[in-house]
This record gives sequence, C-alpha cells and structure tokens, in this order.
Amino acid sequence: MAQLDTLDIVVLVALLLGTLAYFTKGTYWAVQKDPYASSFANGHAGKAGKSRNILERMDEQGKNCVIFYGSQTGTAEDYASRLAKEGSSRFGLKTMTADLEEYDYENLDQFPEDKVAFFVLATYGEGEPTDNAVEFYEFMGGEDVSFSEKSSDEKPLANLKYVAFGLGNNTYEHYNSMVRNVTNRRR
Ligand SMILES: Cc1cc2nc3c(=O)[nH]c(=O)nc-3n(C[C@H](O)[C@H](O)[C@H](O)COP(=O)(O)O)c2cc1C
Repeated sequence: MAQLDTLDIVVLVALLLGTLAYFTKGTYWAVQKDPYASSFANGHAGKAGKSRNILERMDEQGKNCVIFYGSQTGTAEDYASRLAKEGSSRFGLKTMTADLEEYDYENLDQFPEDKVAFFVLATYGEGEPTDNAVEFYEFMGGEDVSFSEKSSDEKPLANLKYVAFGLGNNTYEHYNSMVRNVTNRRR
C-alpha cells in the first residue's frame, strides 16, 4: 500500500477544506445581510400590535424623520429604505420607514418643528394609489380637486414640513398623479 507523505496530506486537507467551504457558503460564511433590514422591521412594527400614532412611534424609537411609502410591488418601499439609510448616514437624521396603511393620519398636522416626514408614493391605474395608500389618499381628499379653495384648517398637510417623491411612468396619462395630489393638499 502506498504511503501518504506530508505533501499528500497537505493536498488532501486543502481539498477537504475547499469542499467544506464550498458547501457551507451562505450558511456559515458569506451570509448576505440586508442593509435595510432594521428600517424594514421598523416599517412593519405596526402589524405587531404597536401604536398607529406615528408621533408616538417616533418618540418611542427616538426618531426625527419618518419616510412613509405607498408601494405595490416594492419599488417605493425599497426607495424609502434607501432614503432612510442615506438620511441617517449622510445627514445624521434618526430615520424610520413606515407603511402608510399601518398608521393614522389625523395628527400629521401636529408634527413638531424638529421632525420631518417624507412620502414616497407610486401611482397606478387611472392615477390611483397603491393598495396600502388607499386610506391615506381618501384622508387627503381623494379625487377632490377643490383644495386650492379651502382654508388651511381644512388642508391635512398645511402645517406639516414634508418632502414628497413620486414613482411613476411617463407613458401613463396620469403620470405621477399621487404625488401631485399630495403636494396640492398643502397649497
Ligand atoms: C399596472 C400598472 C399601472 C401603472 N399606472 C401608472 C400611472 O397611472 N401613472 C404613473 O405615473 N405610473 C404608473 N405605473 C408605474 C408605477 O407607478 C411604477 O412602476 C412604480 O415604480 C411602481 O412602484 P411600486 O413597485 O412601489 O409599486 C403603473 C405601473 C403598472 C404596473
């Protein structure tokens, strides 16, 4: 029987380690972490029986910037998570994302001076909201176009400092109409 010399053993051990590494990749090492996982969890906290009051949630979590999203297939949600990450790393904001359907909107006009809200909103169909933004859209007056004639007391976002981003496709007739409507609710 042939004898194994040191070189053979080294080669065998290397082969064994290589095989082990190959089969454990993604389980014990090179596990991909979702960089947005924590903000995603923040955004879904409402489902776990948490408060629907956004200001309460922000205070509980020590946040000063909320990024609401209205998303159907995840693009706006993903964009909201990226904004949250950038806002935190570049500008030191204490950010959280929020699924629009998990919160109430009555106190949006009570946001204190030191807090800011973002809305990242996708448009569908005939300029309609995503499923998770339907209630928000109705709260904002839905299709009512007479907002410019209303007093600021009647405008849900009149006292809110906010930034609005729209996601749309300019081949549609109602291009980006969700974000246009939300912006009009202030004026
Ligand atoms: C069936 C369908 C209808 C759409 N309707 C509109 C529209 O009326 N206006 C618009 O600006 N964009 C429209 N879009 C484009 C979406 O708003 C855009 O793809 C957006 O990035 C989707 O965001 P989401 O993945 O967060 O849902 C439509 C897309 C689809 C698939």
